[in-house]
Amino acid sequence: MRGAGKAERAAALRVSDGPTYRDPSLRRSIALFRSFLKEQSDPELFYGTLARDAVDQVERLADVKGSLIVDIGGGSGHFTEEFRRRGGDAYLFEPDTAELHAEGAPPSGAVVADGYLLPLADGSADICFSSNVLEHVDDPTTFLSEMVRVTKPGGLIYVSYTNWLSPWGGHETSPWHYFGAHRARERYARKHGREAKHTLGENLFAVHIGPVLRHVRARDDVEVLSARSRYWPFLAEAIVRVPGIREFATWNLLLILRRCP
Ligand SMILES: C[S@@+](CC[C@H](N)C(=O)[O-])C[C@H]1O[C@@H](n2cnc3c(N)ncnc32)[C@H](O)[C@@H]1O
Repeated sequence: MRGAGKAERAAALRVSDGPTYRDPSLRRSIALFRSFLKEQSDPELFYGTLARDAVDQVERLADVKGSLIVDIGGGSGHFTEEFRRRGGDAYLFEPDTAELHAEGAPPSGAVVADGYLLPLADGSADICFSSNVLEHVDDPTTFLSEMVRVTKPGGLIYVSYTNWLSPWGGHETSPWHYFGAHRARERYARKHGREAKHTLGENLFAVHIGPVLRHVRARDDVEVLSARSRYWPFLAEAIVRVPGIREFATWNLLLILRRCP
């Protein structure tokens, strides 16, 4: 960061126990991509890097320390743990007990709960967070509405998801999903000798970018603070403005919303 301008320094990410990357920047994207390549062999590295990066993004817009944070569909709790490391009062809400225990004991106070119907009063959370869950629900609008409901007026909502036409849209069957989800699953089973984890229409859904953007922009209870590619090193916001192309080029849409007072 030496020699960087004031605005750049302000935009720099603070990482609790890792290097600091400017967001967006090529170095950050390369670091995220490198850790992604190790997702299977070193999940701690991948999820730790991703969690630090996401919490950095939140911290640019809200105080994490002392805030009540809910992590919806947080899997085994990497993001919840990172929020707690930064002083947040964070809680994990995850419906799948296998995901919850996938890496040992989940964070204390974890709740088995569905994001469609959270056991939380209206306006309870300062920050409502969800990473890579929206493509796993068949009714993204209801899921988003529930996130908005539990967020305090003035609070922050962080949602990111991999859209269906992203090169990673088919998840482990990518990029063969471009030739059809069924064919991609068959190919995966032939190649790996086991069924793919995700089945379109069961636990993975064709969520696109345009309809979700139109939905959040039309809502009168949230302000869209940011709509951008989560991982791109440049043109992260510009890509999302181009209908058609954004469905292929965004990879993963990050929405940061403010609940209207
Ligand atoms: C790809 S994992 C993402 C885990 C973690 N948030 C991350 O970014 O690494 C998708 C998660 O969404 C959860 N999920 C699926 N349907 C859900 C729902 N209706 N409500 C809340 N979570 C859900 C799954 O159980 C799973 O843990």
